[in-house]
Amino acid sequence: MKILKSIFDNNREWADKISKEQPDFFDQLSKQQNPEYLWIGCSDSRVPANEIINLPPGEVFVHRNIANVVVHTDLNCLSVIQYAVEVLKVKHIIVCGHYDCGGVTAAMEKKQHGLIDNWLRHIRDVYRFHAKELDGIEDFEKRKDRLCELNVVEQVENICNTTIVKNAWQSNQLLSVHGWIFHLKDGLLQDLDVTTSSLP
Ligand code: CO
Repeated sequence: MKILKSIFDNNREWADKISKEQPDFFDQLSKQQNPEYLWIGCSDSRVPANEIINLPPGEVFVHRNIANVVVHTDLNCLSVIQYAVEVLKVKHIIVCGHYDCGGVTAAMEKKQHGLIDNWLRHIRDVYRFHAKELDGIEDFEKRKDRLCELNVVEQVENICNTTIVKNAWQSNQLLSVHGWIFHLKDGLLQDLDVTTSSLP
């Protein structure tokens, strides 16, 4: 008996469907990737990058972690950004958060969650930077939504401050960094209007 057979069945069905529609698709795909977008999003299973922007394999370079955080010293995320910017020469980096983010909710709670609290610390920092605004929002749900948005804005700032992006702009490479948020309730994306395309 094949382990997780249904998943392999799904995979075959998917590959067959694409091959039927575009017979040379996988042949082309195996030769190179040429994505224009780097997507940095949350690991949440409800926010699958390619699917929600309706783009096929080969179009989006993806990095996901809990609560779409870009930490200055995270070699994993920084390596993804470096490869995307310097080798793939993506034109857009998109930080996409989402409302009802479990990581953001956990960061707002007083109780401990174990190891992950050390990661969520970064979101607590975002809260601290914006405590005045956030503390002024009485409704917990609304405050949480706002922290989800502010978290994206802060991560855009962090990306813009990496040596990788600064160097790209210094050498006039075409590159924009965007902050978006995804509504789980209707599947729609919203631009948070913090797009940055050059050094300040
Ligand atoms: Co999330």
